[in-house]
Amino acid sequence: MQPTILTGKTSPVQPIPSASLSENVAFNLLHTVPYFLRGIFTKNHFWSRFFDALHTDRLVVRFCQRLRAKHGSDFIYLYLLQNKALCVFDYDGIKHVLDNSPYIYADPDLKHRGMSHFQPNALTISRGEEWKDRRRFNEAVLNSDRTVHEYGDAFLEIIRTEVRALLEDKVDGLGWEDFDRLFKRVTLQVIFGASARSETELTDRLERMMRESNRVFLLKKSKDFDAFYRRIRAHLAAPEPGSLSALCPHAPSSPLTRQENQVPHWMFATMETLATNTLRALAAIVAHPKVEERVRRQLAGKPFTSGAEVASLKYLRGCLQEAMRLWPTTPMLARLMLADDQLGGQPVPANTQVIILNTFLHRDSEKHYFADRFSPELWLESEENYHFNHLSNGQQVCAGKNLALFIGTAVLVELLRGSRYRLRRPALRPAKPLPHTFNEFRIKLGRIPLY
Ligand code: HEM
Repeated sequence: MQPTILTGKTSPVQPIPSASLSENVAFNLLHTVPYFLRGIFTKNHFWSRFFDALHTDRLVVRFCQRLRAKHGSDFIYLYLLQNKALCVFDYDGIKHVLDNSPYIYADPDLKHRGMSHFQPNALTISRGEEWKDRRRFNEAVLNSDRTVHEYGDAFLEIIRTEVRALLEDKVDGLGWEDFDRLFKRVTLQVIFGASARSETELTDRLERMMRESNRVFLLKKSKDFDAFYRRIRAHLAAPEPGSLSALCPHAPSSPLTRQENQVPHWMFATMETLATNTLRALAAIVAHPKVEERVRRQLAGKPFTSGAEVASLKYLRGCLQEAMRLWPTTPMLARLMLADDQLGGQPVPANTQVIILNTFLHRDSEKHYFADRFSPELWLESEENYHFNHLSNGQQVCAGKNLALFIGTAVLVELLRGSRYRLRRPALRPAKPLPHTFNEFRIKLGRIPLY
């Protein structure tokens, strides 16, 4: 899918320009400071609300558009605090970076340091042969190349049971706490099996470690680390049939793989990240009557008892992707160059940091006429577009992309089938450009059961 390009400013022959001092100060105040304080690895409620209220993300979009116009380039050097970084706005440039990750464009130091606190040796902070080995293992367990996981029917049954239990309990309305609990239960069962359903000790320990890692600097070994991994090892040693753990012994693995260190990423991505995106998608659907009508037409009269039926709902999957595009839970992708390379026709030396700013690129109204609208139909033709990297693209594309889209869609199906909802707050108005942030902790949905 190639979106409509309204303007293009790439001038590959000119040297890559650098932002001025005042531009760097503005960029760091609008982007870098909120990025750190909101929480890199897990969200901080207070700072998220604070910066949402200041509309810093909207200001970032305007700032980047002006920066691009002033310098006449889609590649600009600027400083992320004290680190020089190359900001890439250009489609081909982004594609080149992501297609050559992690071999040339690898994990930067800060991400490595923060993530190692709770998941050392995780795929996303691996390089070279280790990355290849761990990617093979992750892809095998997560069934990355399949729209329906081999255990998709079993996962659907877990989701149906949990959503029904939630709706029996919450007759009047839904909010973040409900989604948080729902997705934790689903996560624990999908990864470890039914017996882990209420093992909140595991999710609590991971959340505490992630909160600590938000600090990035001066991290000591967490008090939760050993106990957390003891439980993960126990689950992997006695896997329950039908869970992701049950596939681990059969997936390609070597001493490099470090299976236990791959599991926390599956956990946090399925609980916090997917819960956030699914809640926002539901809120956006019910705030857009035409979208809701189209979704409901596709749901009408079908039982949705098989994974294949859920995966056939491309428009609803598109709703989920649109929520991710509009409000990307990964505001930027950062890379460190391991070798000299060329970007935009210019040489760029090894050790340069490269950033792909999703917050700006997804809402670049000078390039995409639909930037600020909820447009699920965008994703019908193709589920991949290098302009939009909420699930990343290229070699290091989210290994759980299909699984995440499947679980999120299944939750939406089950929630929508038996009920209607009204978005009580925060308001979303389809006739107006959508806000640049949509704080999931504030979302409240009124519920009207249909039968
Ligand atoms: C809405 C949910 C999700 C979103 C928005 C998301 C987003 C992302 C993004 C942006 C990356 C690339 C990060 C980077 O390169 O800096 C990524 C990588 C990854 N994701 Fe997801 N993800 C989601 C759900 C999942 C799920 C459910 C799983 C597994 C169960 C998963 C497993 C992974 C893994 C293993 C990687 C590392 C890939 C690699 O480095 O080769 N993700 N994800």
